[in-house]
Amino acid sequence: MLTDKGKMHQSKPMYNDTLSIGKPHFCDITIATHCNLHCKMCKAWHAPADGPHLSFEESRHFIDSLAEFVETPLEINVMGGEPLLVPWCLDLCNYISEKGFRSIISTNASLIDEAMAKRIADSKLSVLAISLESITAAMHDTNRGKQGLHRQIMQAIEYLDKYARKDLCVTLLTILMEKNIDEIIPLAEWVNTTPLFQNISYLALLETGLVSEHKNWFRQDVYKDLWPQNKGQLNAVIDELIRLRKEGYRIWNPLSQLDAFKEYYEEPDLFMKQTPCKLHDYIIDLDENANIYLSGEMLGNLREDNLRTLWYSEKAQHVRKKIQTEGPGERCCVINFVCAFPADDVYLKVRENT
Ligand SMILES: C[S@@+](CC[C@H](N)C(=O)[O-])C[C@H]1O[C@@H](n2cnc3c(N)ncnc32)[C@H](O)[C@@H]1O
Ligand code: SF4
Repeated sequence: MLTDKGKMHQSKPMYNDTLSIGKPHFCDITIATHCNLHCKMCKAWHAPADGPHLSFEESRHFIDSLAEFVETPLEINVMGGEPLLVPWCLDLCNYISEKGFRSIISTNASLIDEAMAKRIADSKLSVLAISLESITAAMHDTNRGKQGLHRQIMQAIEYLDKYARKDLCVTLLTILMEKNIDEIIPLAEWVNTTPLFQNISYLALLETGLVSEHKNWFRQDVYKDLWPQNKGQLNAVIDELIRLRKEGYRIWNPLSQLDAFKEYYEEPDLFMKQTPCKLHDYIIDLDENANIYLSGEMLGNLREDNLRTLWYSEKAQHVRKKIQTEGPGERCCVINFVCAFPADDVYLKVRENT
Protein backbone atom coordinates (compact mmCIF):
# COMPACT_ATOMS: atom_id res chain seq x y z
CA MET A 1 0.00 0.00 0.00
CA LEU A 2 2.93 2.26 -0.05
CA THR A 3 4.52 4.80 -2.27
CA ASP A 4 7.42 3.19 -4.06
CA LYS A 5 5.84 -0.24 -4.13
CA GLY A 6 3.64 1.09 -6.89
CA LYS A 7 6.47 2.84 -8.69
CA MET A 8 8.24 -0.44 -9.14
CA HIS A 9 5.22 -2.26 -10.43
CA GLN A 10 3.46 0.23 -12.58
CA SER A 11 5.53 -0.55 -15.63
CA LYS A 12 4.91 -4.29 -15.21
CA PRO A 13 1.90 -6.14 -16.58
CA MET A 14 -1.05 -6.01 -14.20
CA TYR A 15 -2.00 -9.65 -14.31
CA ASN A 16 0.23 -12.63 -14.69
CA ASP A 17 -1.61 -15.33 -16.56
CA THR A 18 1.04 -18.00 -16.35
CA LEU A 19 2.00 -20.18 -13.45
CA SER A 20 5.70 -19.65 -13.84
CA ILE A 21 7.59 -19.17 -10.61
CA GLY A 22 8.71 -15.59 -10.35
CA LYS A 23 10.60 -13.89 -7.57
CA PRO A 24 9.05 -12.01 -4.65
CA HIS A 25 8.33 -8.38 -5.56
CA PHE A 26 7.28 -7.15 -2.19
CA CYS A 27 7.72 -8.30 1.36
CA ASP A 28 6.21 -7.51 4.76
CA ILE A 29 8.04 -8.33 7.98
CA THR A 30 6.01 -7.82 11.15
CA ILE A 31 8.52 -6.92 13.83
CA ALA A 32 5.97 -5.64 16.38
CA THR A 33 2.29 -6.28 16.83
CA HIS A 34 1.92 -3.99 19.84
CA CYS A 35 1.44 -0.27 19.74
CA ASN A 36 1.55 2.79 21.98
CA LEU A 37 -1.58 4.48 20.58
CA HIS A 38 -5.29 3.65 20.78
CA CYS A 39 -6.61 4.46 17.31
CA LYS A 40 -10.32 4.10 16.69
CA MET A 41 -9.96 2.23 13.39
CA CYS A 42 -7.34 -0.30 14.47
CA LYS A 43 -7.07 -3.04 17.04
CA ALA A 44 -3.29 -3.32 17.14
CA TRP A 45 -3.19 -1.75 20.59
CA HIS A 46 -4.88 -4.85 22.02
CA ALA A 47 -1.68 -6.82 21.37
CA PRO A 48 0.46 -7.25 24.49
CA ALA A 49 3.99 -5.82 24.43
CA ASP A 50 5.33 -9.21 25.53
CA GLY A 51 3.44 -11.18 22.87
CA PRO A 52 5.18 -13.36 20.25
CA HIS A 53 7.80 -11.54 18.28
CA LEU A 54 10.72 -12.02 15.94
CA SER A 55 14.24 -11.47 17.16
CA PHE A 56 16.72 -9.25 15.34
CA GLU A 57 18.74 -12.35 14.42
CA GLU A 58 15.70 -14.07 12.93
CA SER A 59 14.79 -10.97 10.93
CA ARG A 60 18.32 -10.72 9.58
CA HIS A 61 18.32 -14.42 8.76
CA PHE A 62 15.14 -13.89 6.74
CA ILE A 63 16.78 -11.03 4.81
CA ASP A 64 19.83 -13.22 4.16
CA SER A 65 17.56 -16.01 2.90
CA LEU A 66 15.80 -13.62 0.53
CA ALA A 67 19.13 -12.33 -0.73
CA GLU A 68 20.09 -15.90 -1.70
CA PHE A 69 17.58 -16.01 -4.52
CA VAL A 70 16.03 -12.56 -4.98
CA GLU A 71 17.78 -9.92 -6.95
CA THR A 72 17.18 -6.24 -6.26
CA PRO A 73 14.94 -4.32 -6.39
CA LEU A 74 12.80 -5.75 -3.63
CA GLU A 75 10.88 -3.55 -1.25
CA ILE A 76 10.62 -4.70 2.34
CA ASN A 77 7.99 -3.19 4.60
CA VAL A 78 9.12 -3.34 8.23
CA MET A 79 5.75 -3.43 9.93
CA GLY A 80 3.96 -2.91 13.21
CA GLY A 81 1.98 -2.32 15.41
CA GLU A 82 4.34 0.55 15.89
CA PRO A 83 7.68 -0.50 14.40
CA LEU A 84 9.68 2.27 16.08
CA LEU A 85 8.88 0.69 19.46
CA VAL A 86 11.34 -2.04 18.52
CA PRO A 87 14.84 -0.84 19.44
CA TRP A 88 16.53 -2.54 16.46
CA CYS A 89 13.99 -1.41 13.84
CA LEU A 90 16.37 1.03 12.13
CA ASP A 91 19.27 -1.42 12.41
CA LEU A 92 17.16 -3.89 10.44
CA CYS A 93 16.43 -1.21 7.83
CA ASN A 94 20.19 -0.62 7.52
CA TYR A 95 20.73 -4.35 7.07
CA ILE A 96 18.04 -4.48 4.38
CA SER A 97 19.77 -1.67 2.47
CA GLU A 98 23.16 -3.31 2.83
CA LYS A 99 21.71 -6.34 1.05
CA GLY A 100 20.62 -4.05 -1.80
CA PHE A 101 16.90 -4.03 -0.96
CA ARG A 102 14.72 -1.04 -0.09
CA SER A 103 13.22 -0.63 3.37
CA ILE A 104 9.92 1.01 4.32
CA ILE A 105 8.48 1.95 7.71
CA SER A 106 4.96 3.23 8.43
CA THR A 107 4.81 5.04 11.74
CA ASN A 108 2.41 7.00 13.90
CA ALA A 109 5.42 9.33 14.46
CA SER A 110 4.76 9.63 18.19
CA LEU A 111 8.28 8.41 18.95
CA ILE A 112 10.08 10.77 16.56
CA ASP A 113 11.75 13.28 18.84
CA GLU A 114 14.92 15.11 17.83
CA ALA A 115 17.16 12.16 18.69
CA MET A 116 15.00 9.72 16.71
CA ALA A 117 14.86 12.12 13.74
CA LYS A 118 18.69 12.15 13.74
CA ARG A 119 18.76 8.34 13.94
CA ILE A 120 16.38 8.12 10.99
CA ALA A 121 18.52 10.63 9.09
CA ASP A 122 21.63 8.58 9.78
CA SER A 123 19.98 5.28 8.83
CA LYS A 124 19.69 3.80 5.36
CA LEU A 125 15.90 3.69 5.50
CA SER A 126 14.43 4.20 2.02
CA VAL A 127 10.83 5.27 2.75
CA LEU A 128 9.33 6.79 5.89
CA ALA A 129 5.53 6.85 5.80
CA ILE A 130 3.88 9.01 8.47
CA SER A 131 0.23 8.39 9.28
CA LEU A 132 -1.79 11.57 9.49
CA GLU A 133 -5.56 11.82 9.25
CA SER A 134 -6.04 15.56 9.38
CA ILE A 135 -4.68 19.07 9.26
CA THR A 136 -6.81 19.77 12.32
CA ALA A 137 -5.14 18.79 15.57
CA ALA A 138 -8.30 17.90 17.49
CA MET A 139 -9.53 15.41 14.89
CA HIS A 140 -6.24 13.52 14.65
CA ASP A 141 -5.69 13.47 18.42
CA THR A 142 -9.20 12.20 19.11
CA ASN A 143 -9.03 9.54 16.43
CA ARG A 144 -5.60 8.32 17.58
CA GLY A 145 -6.46 8.58 21.29
CA LYS A 146 -3.60 10.87 22.28
CA GLN A 147 -3.86 14.54 23.09
CA GLY A 148 -0.92 16.55 21.74
CA LEU A 149 -0.04 13.93 19.09
CA HIS A 150 -0.68 16.27 16.16
CA ARG A 151 1.64 18.91 17.64
CA GLN A 152 4.26 16.18 18.16
CA ILE A 153 3.96 15.08 14.53
CA MET A 154 4.39 18.66 13.29
CA GLN A 155 7.51 18.90 15.48
CA ALA A 156 8.75 15.56 14.10
CA ILE A 157 8.27 16.88 10.56
CA GLU A 158 10.40 19.92 11.44
CA TYR A 159 13.17 17.72 12.82
CA LEU A 160 13.06 15.48 9.78
CA ASP A 161 13.20 18.50 7.53
CA LYS A 162 16.29 19.64 9.39
CA TYR A 163 18.19 16.36 9.46
CA ALA A 164 16.88 13.94 6.85
CA ARG A 165 18.94 13.00 3.80
CA LYS A 166 17.66 14.29 0.49
CA ASP A 167 17.13 10.75 -0.79
CA LEU A 168 14.90 9.66 2.10
CA CYS A 169 11.39 9.44 0.69
CA VAL A 170 8.96 10.87 3.25
CA THR A 171 5.31 10.29 2.52
CA LEU A 172 1.99 10.75 4.33
CA LEU A 173 -0.57 7.98 4.78
CA THR A 174 -4.18 9.08 5.16
CA ILE A 175 -7.25 6.88 5.49
CA LEU A 176 -10.46 8.08 3.83
CA MET A 177 -12.97 8.12 6.69
CA GLU A 178 -16.19 9.76 7.76
CA LYS A 179 -14.35 11.77 10.39
CA ASN A 180 -11.77 13.34 8.09
CA ILE A 181 -13.69 13.71 4.85
CA ASP A 182 -13.29 17.52 5.00
CA GLU A 183 -9.56 17.17 5.62
CA ILE A 184 -8.67 15.10 2.56
CA ILE A 185 -8.21 17.94 0.07
CA PRO A 186 -6.49 20.31 2.54
CA LEU A 187 -3.98 17.52 3.26
CA ALA A 188 -3.25 17.11 -0.47
CA GLU A 189 -2.73 20.90 -0.72
CA TRP A 190 -0.44 20.89 2.30
CA VAL A 191 1.70 18.02 1.01
CA ASN A 192 2.00 19.76 -2.33
CA THR A 193 3.55 22.83 -0.74
CA THR A 194 5.73 21.08 1.85
CA PRO A 195 9.14 20.21 0.36
CA LEU A 196 9.86 17.38 2.82
CA PHE A 197 7.07 15.22 1.42
CA GLN A 198 7.46 13.23 -1.73
CA ASN A 199 3.73 12.51 -1.81
CA ILE A 200 0.56 11.55 0.02
CA SER A 201 -0.95 8.10 -0.27
CA TYR A 202 -4.62 7.63 0.55
CA LEU A 203 -5.86 4.37 2.04
CA ALA A 204 -9.32 2.86 2.01
CA LEU A 205 -10.72 1.91 5.39
CA LEU A 206 -10.46 -1.84 6.04
CA GLU A 207 -12.07 -4.03 8.65
CA THR A 208 -9.23 -4.90 10.98
CA GLY A 209 -10.89 -6.92 13.70
CA LEU A 210 -13.21 -4.35 15.28
CA VAL A 211 -16.27 -6.55 14.71
CA SER A 212 -16.84 -10.24 15.34
CA GLU A 213 -19.54 -10.59 12.68
CA HIS A 214 -17.74 -9.78 9.42
CA LYS A 215 -20.81 -9.60 7.18
CA ASN A 216 -21.75 -5.96 6.57
CA TRP A 217 -19.02 -4.86 8.97
CA PHE A 218 -19.02 -1.31 7.62
CA ARG A 219 -22.70 -0.92 8.51
CA GLN A 220 -22.18 -1.88 12.14
CA ASP A 221 -22.27 0.64 14.95
CA VAL A 222 -18.55 0.66 15.68
CA TYR A 223 -17.94 1.93 12.12
CA LYS A 224 -20.53 4.72 12.25
CA ASP A 225 -17.95 7.49 12.74
CA LEU A 226 -15.38 5.82 10.52
CA TRP A 227 -17.17 4.62 7.39
CA PRO A 228 -18.14 7.54 5.08
CA GLN A 229 -21.91 7.96 5.37
CA ASN A 230 -22.54 10.37 2.52
CA LYS A 231 -21.44 8.66 -0.72
CA GLY A 232 -22.11 11.81 -2.78
CA GLN A 233 -19.72 13.79 -0.61
CA LEU A 234 -17.09 11.04 -0.67
CA ASN A 235 -17.25 10.71 -4.46
CA ALA A 236 -16.93 14.47 -4.89
CA VAL A 237 -13.79 14.43 -2.73
CA ILE A 238 -12.31 11.53 -4.73
CA ASP A 239 -13.16 13.29 -8.01
CA GLU A 240 -11.29 16.33 -6.73
CA LEU A 241 -8.28 14.14 -5.89
CA ILE A 242 -8.42 12.78 -9.43
CA ARG A 243 -8.45 16.32 -10.80
CA LEU A 244 -5.54 17.35 -8.58
CA ARG A 245 -3.49 14.31 -9.56
CA LYS A 246 -4.06 15.09 -13.22
CA GLU A 247 -2.83 18.61 -12.44
CA GLY A 248 0.39 17.16 -11.07
CA TYR A 249 -0.28 17.23 -7.35
CA ARG A 250 1.88 14.83 -5.35
CA ILE A 251 -0.86 12.26 -4.85
CA TRP A 252 0.62 8.80 -5.05
CA ASN A 253 -2.52 6.77 -5.82
CA PRO A 254 -2.93 6.14 -9.56
CA LEU A 255 -6.20 7.29 -11.17
CA SER A 256 -7.33 3.67 -11.47
CA GLN A 257 -7.04 3.22 -7.71
CA LEU A 258 -8.85 6.48 -6.96
CA ASP A 259 -11.70 5.35 -9.21
CA ALA A 260 -11.66 1.95 -7.51
CA PHE A 261 -12.03 3.65 -4.11
CA LYS A 262 -15.47 4.83 -5.23
CA GLU A 263 -16.51 1.28 -6.06
CA TYR A 264 -14.96 -0.12 -2.89
CA TYR A 265 -16.86 2.28 -0.65
CA GLU A 266 -20.15 1.20 -2.28
CA GLU A 267 -19.76 -2.47 -1.24
CA PRO A 268 -16.28 -3.30 0.13
CA ASP A 269 -16.67 -7.06 0.45
CA LEU A 270 -18.07 -7.43 -3.03
CA PHE A 271 -15.27 -5.29 -4.40
CA MET A 272 -12.61 -7.44 -2.73
CA LYS A 273 -14.24 -10.62 -3.96
CA GLN A 274 -14.55 -9.49 -7.54
CA THR A 275 -11.16 -7.86 -8.02
CA PRO A 276 -8.65 -10.18 -9.66
CA CYS A 277 -5.11 -9.44 -8.57
CA LYS A 278 -2.76 -12.12 -9.82
CA LEU A 279 0.27 -9.97 -9.10
CA HIS A 280 -0.22 -10.99 -5.50
CA ASP A 281 1.43 -14.33 -5.96
CA TYR A 282 4.66 -12.35 -5.65
CA ILE A 283 4.14 -11.05 -2.13
CA ILE A 284 5.93 -12.73 0.70
CA ASP A 285 5.21 -12.04 4.38
CA LEU A 286 6.89 -12.96 7.62
CA ASP A 287 4.75 -12.58 10.73
CA GLU A 288 5.60 -12.21 14.41
CA ASN A 289 5.50 -15.99 14.89
CA ALA A 290 8.04 -16.45 12.07
CA ASN A 291 5.35 -17.90 9.81
CA ILE A 292 6.01 -17.33 6.12
CA TYR A 293 3.13 -16.50 3.77
CA LEU A 294 2.83 -16.39 0.02
CA SER A 295 0.11 -13.85 -0.72
CA GLY A 296 -1.79 -14.64 2.44
CA GLU A 297 -1.41 -18.43 2.41
CA MET A 298 0.95 -19.95 4.95
CA LEU A 299 3.91 -21.80 3.42
CA GLY A 300 5.96 -22.69 6.47
CA ASN A 301 7.98 -21.27 9.32
CA LEU A 302 11.36 -19.54 9.29
CA ARG A 303 12.40 -21.41 12.44
CA GLU A 304 11.99 -24.79 10.73
CA ASP A 305 12.07 -24.27 6.99
CA ASN A 306 14.39 -22.94 4.34
CA LEU A 307 12.83 -19.93 2.58
CA ARG A 308 14.19 -20.70 -0.87
CA THR A 309 12.98 -24.31 -0.64
CA LEU A 310 9.55 -23.07 0.42
CA TRP A 311 9.37 -20.59 -2.46
CA TYR A 312 9.97 -23.36 -5.03
CA SER A 313 7.95 -26.02 -3.15
CA GLU A 314 4.90 -27.88 -4.39
CA LYS A 315 2.93 -26.19 -1.67
CA ALA A 316 3.85 -22.79 -3.10
CA GLN A 317 2.79 -23.94 -6.58
CA HIS A 318 -0.49 -25.12 -5.09
CA VAL A 319 -0.99 -21.65 -3.56
CA ARG A 320 -0.20 -20.01 -6.91
CA LYS A 321 -2.78 -22.20 -8.62
CA LYS A 322 -5.32 -21.37 -5.94
CA ILE A 323 -4.67 -17.65 -6.34
CA GLN A 324 -5.10 -18.04 -10.11
CA THR A 325 -8.50 -19.60 -9.66
CA GLU A 326 -9.85 -18.08 -6.46
CA GLY A 327 -7.95 -14.82 -5.94
CA PRO A 328 -5.51 -13.84 -3.22
CA GLY A 329 -5.74 -15.04 0.40
CA GLU A 330 -7.17 -13.17 3.36
CA ARG A 331 -4.08 -11.17 4.20
CA CYS A 332 -4.14 -9.42 0.84
CA CYS A 333 -6.01 -6.15 1.09
CA VAL A 334 -6.20 -5.53 -2.66
CA ILE A 335 -7.70 -2.07 -2.54
CA ASN A 336 -4.72 -0.54 -0.72
CA PHE A 337 -2.06 -2.11 -2.91
CA VAL A 338 -0.92 0.48 -5.41
CA CYS A 339 0.68 -2.36 -7.38
CA ALA A 340 -2.73 -3.91 -8.04
CA PHE A 341 -3.72 -0.95 -10.21
CA PRO A 342 -2.55 0.02 -13.67
CA ALA A 343 -0.58 3.20 -14.24
CA ASP A 344 -2.43 6.29 -15.49
CA ASP A 345 -1.37 6.08 -19.14
CA VAL A 346 -2.42 2.42 -19.43
CA TYR A 347 -5.65 3.02 -17.57
CA LEU A 348 -6.66 6.09 -19.58
CA LYS A 349 -5.90 4.34 -22.87
CA VAL A 350 -8.07 1.34 -21.91
CA ARG A 351 -10.87 3.69 -20.86
CA GLU A 352 -10.63 5.62 -24.11
CA ASN A 353 -11.07 2.39 -26.08
CA THR A 354 -14.07 1.09 -24.14
C1 LIG B 1 -1.42 -0.66 11.02
S1 LIG B 1 -0.52 0.80 10.88
C2 LIG B 1 1.05 0.36 11.50
C3 LIG B 1 2.05 1.48 11.48
C4 LIG B 1 1.87 2.59 12.50
N1 LIG B 1 1.46 2.14 13.76
C5 LIG B 1 0.95 3.67 11.94
O1 LIG B 1 -0.13 3.87 12.46
O2 LIG B 1 1.37 4.29 10.97
C6 LIG B 1 -0.19 0.96 9.10
C7 LIG B 1 -1.15 1.88 8.40
O3 LIG B 1 -2.43 1.27 8.44
C8 LIG B 1 -3.37 2.29 8.68
N2 LIG B 1 -4.58 1.69 9.24
C9 LIG B 1 -4.88 1.43 10.52
N3 LIG B 1 -6.12 0.92 10.62
C10 LIG B 1 -6.63 0.86 9.37
C11 LIG B 1 -7.86 0.43 8.80
N4 LIG B 1 -8.85 -0.05 9.56
N5 LIG B 1 -8.02 0.52 7.46
C12 LIG B 1 -7.03 0.99 6.67
N6 LIG B 1 -5.85 1.41 7.14
C13 LIG B 1 -5.64 1.34 8.48
C14 LIG B 1 -2.67 3.24 9.63
O4 LIG B 1 -3.27 4.51 9.65
C15 LIG B 1 -1.29 3.26 9.03
O5 LIG B 1 -1.21 4.27 8.04
S1 SF4 C 1 -3.05 2.49 13.38
FE1 SF4 C 1 -0.93 2.33 13.96
S2 SF4 C 1 -0.80 3.73 15.70
FE2 SF4 C 1 -2.93 3.27 15.49
S3 SF4 C 1 -3.33 1.53 16.86
FE3 SF4 C 1 -2.94 0.75 14.78
S4 SF4 C 1 -0.80 0.25 14.80
FE4 SF4 C 1 -1.15 1.66 16.50
